[in-house]
Amino acid sequence: MIEIAWLGHHHTAALGIHLLALDSDDRYARFGHRLTDTAVLRWVRRIDWQRDGWMGAWWAAEDALVGALQLAPLPTETATAGTVEVAITVLPLLRRQGLATRLLATALVDDRMAHCRRLLFQHGHPAVFALARRLGMCAQVDAASAAVYLSGWSRQALTDLLASMGMGVVTDTVPRGTACHHG
Ligand SMILES: CC(C)(COP(=O)(O)OP(=O)(O)OC[C@H]1O[C@@H](n2cnc3c(N)ncnc32)[C@H](O)[C@@H]1OP(=O)(O)O)[C@@H](O)C(=O)NCCC(=O)NCCS
Repeated sequence: MIEIAWLGHHHTAALGIHLLALDSDDRYARFGHRLTDTAVLRWVRRIDWQRDGWMGAWWAAEDALVGALQLAPLPTETATAGTVEVAITVLPLLRRQGLATRLLATALVDDRMAHCRRLLFQHGHPAVFALARRLGMCAQVDAASAAVYLSGWSRQALTDLLASMGMGVVTDTVPRGTACHHG
């Protein structure tokens, strides 16, 4: 069984393990670089948990993080107000089962994402366009940067979609994962 919940800084180690399980191509798709293990761990230690929202998909039987969604708000003083940069990862064994869809829809129906009007994906992975279709969003590609912007979703439609997938709305983090190891 998969559980979806917000993550906090105490999930740093679990998130590190999740990201280390990605191969070189996945790391390129996720980070824009083929990060080494050392670089992945350095990146994880530098996460700003105050600024960014994180949602995780836990495989309950193994207490393992099998999916992760990062929501990084862009600066609010510019044309980017209400825009949140998104990155999603799902472990290969569990792909194509709607996990990324569930992570994104669950985050977007939560009150803490009520300010969000537009999503930015730095790279146009085919799954991003499929996600947009599934979630009833409009996709716009920035020709200069190849970034993809998604907008125009309806909270009610996302709630209905989650209900059809057998998912409720989550409100808080669950106390899973190992302790945070900084430094
Ligand atoms: C991209 C990724 C997050 C998708 O996760 P997922 O759980 O398999 O996605 P879902 O099952 O929710 O699928 C969502 C839609 O994308 C489609 N999709 C998923 N992977 C796809 C792929 N590789 N190529 C084309 N379409 C894809 C699905 O068919 C589905 O569309 P549908 O609803 O019309 O059937 C996952 O493949 C991954 O972690 N990749 C490595 C990191 C990455 O590329 N992240 C994206 C950029 S941040």
